[in-house]
Amino acid sequence: MNVPFFDWAAYFNERADQFSRIMIGTASAGRFILQKDVDEFEAGLAAFVGVKHVIAVADGTNAILLGLRASGIKAGDEVILPSHSFIAAAQSVHHAGATVVPVELAEHDWLVSPEAIEAAITPRTRAIMPVHVNGRACQMPAIMEIARRHGLEVFEDSAQAAGAKVDDQPAGGIGRWGTYSFYPSKTLGCFGDAGALVTNDDDIAETVRAMRNHGANREKSIPRDVSIWGSNSRMDNIQAAILVYKLSYYAEAIERRRVIAARYDEAFRDLPGLRLPPPPEDGAYFDIYQNYELCSDRRDALRAYLAEQGIGTIIQWGGFGIHQLRGLGFTQTLPKTDKFFRESLLLPMNHVLTNDQVDRVIVAMRAFHG
Ligand SMILES: Cc1ncc(COP(=O)(O)O)c(C=O)c1O
Repeated sequence: MNVPFFDWAAYFNERADQFSRIMIGTASAGRFILQKDVDEFEAGLAAFVGVKHVIAVADGTNAILLGLRASGIKAGDEVILPSHSFIAAAQSVHHAGATVVPVELAEHDWLVSPEAIEAAITPRTRAIMPVHVNGRACQMPAIMEIARRHGLEVFEDSAQAAGAKVDDQPAGGIGRWGTYSFYPSKTLGCFGDAGALVTNDDDIAETVRAMRNHGANREKSIPRDVSIWGSNSRMDNIQAAILVYKLSYYAEAIERRRVIAARYDEAFRDLPGLRLPPPPEDGAYFDIYQNYELCSDRRDALRAYLAEQGIGTIIQWGGFGIHQLRGLGFTQTLPKTDKFFRESLLLPMNHVLTNDQVDRVIVAMRAFHG
């Protein structure tokens, strides 16, 4: 039995009949762009997460760019973010005209270090962008406190953390705004690209809602007094219809990931040479396990062994952080992030894994690291 890292077809086949019915029903009714399914998804997700506004957009990367532009981020501004993150946030900061300042991770949770953020603040810093990697929220109370003291904005790249919490607050809903991705492999994944911006701020919500549709009203007619440069960043209505349905069992899907993570934790706890994902601290964190990422002192050999056993793994983002993208002009030296990327590995983790597949991963991991 193989355990592929991405079993793409399984994401559809888990409920193929319902998905087919939804897609055919939506298409045959002619509901393609900004129809009721988008509204239903926005309302449903807002209730699920616990935020005032959800604006459904084309993908998670665009959500970040729209949020930055709606917040007035511009040339000369600096935005601090973790080097341990996907290029999407950095790219969006660049396209908004600002400068990306990548900083170190904290060694206990592998997420952005509040101390590193504070040390990177300059007179040009406008915002901090924590990235909630792997479905675990960053140390938001400390980050919000730093932002308050220095008068900075906080924007959350929550692409991997829709439904995660810290101190009962939703990842994505703590700073001025946050963003989610519904890329197929995400915890709440659709069958193409889709994303959302979430916020409790009425002005940001109104601006982003207009920006995603050319600055226009819903019917796509541009008012003569349009005052916003928008773009086309609408979520496809068929993806919204799929997401409405997926939201109806999202809590179950998250729970399945948490059960698998708990089994991995238990099985690997005593193995030498491994460092496991951060444990919940006094119940303060609710993790949704977008990924199960661990560190091994023999990462490359482990990966090769698992591949021989038919078990797929991934080194997240190719094994390098933002600051290592020298061709884009980064010059920072971040040894903790470098070390992390030399040792880290993603094991199979998704809600359609069977118990037998999970057992297989556990047996192979114990055989190699035991
Ligand atoms: C941390 C992070 N940020 C941003 C994104 C971008 O999302 P999207 O692929 O929907 O543009 C992703 C997902 O790929 C991600 O993992």
